[in-house]
Amino acid sequence: MEDTKILGYSIPKKCRVIINAWAIGRHPDYWEMPEEFQPERFLNRSVDYKGHEFQFIPFGAGRRACPGMAFSVATIKLVLANLLNRFEWKLPGELRGEDLSMDEAPGLTTRKKASFVLVAESRTGGSEGIEVMDSAAIASKEM
Ligand code: HEM
Repeated sequence: MEDTKILGYSIPKKCRVIINAWAIGRHPDYWEMPEEFQPERFLNRSVDYKGHEFQFIPFGAGRRACPGMAFSVATIKLVLANLLNRFEWKLPGELRGEDLSMDEAPGLTTRKKASFVLVAESRTGGSEGIEVMDSAAIASKEM
């Protein structure tokens, strides 16, 4: 390990560098309308997610990149497809999507500031309320 310089910045050895992937993922030089939730932006272009194109690093990059990447990519569609296939997802009562707060709590990982309840109606009958909670709400329930 040794001191180094990157883009004019001095990085002393043993210094902990935290990459702001959130800001990179919203950089207007790389993303059109970066603040808009547009998953379809990925439909007609192939953006590498494995850490080779630095504007999109959901699993990090380099030697400390996520070792669970292959497992996640192999299973995530299966999990999501099962949840969507088996349940009809609704908001309770008169609540509308626009009423929900999508504010994020500060931290190294992104989580919701306020929790909300979803109603998962089984497509084969029955319904259950599923509470989507932030970690603080989970901790307070466990106590
Ligand atoms: C969609 C699912 C996942 C995403 C988006 C994700 C994302 C990430 C990110 C961004 C990092 C930090 C990488 C860096 O520092 O550059 C990381 C690290 C890590 N992930 Fe994941 N991850 C996911 C699933 C998983 C799974 C399923 C496992 C284990 C089975 C896992 C195990 C780890 C471990 C052990 C690290 C620490 C690696 C290290 O610091 O050397 N991840 N992950």
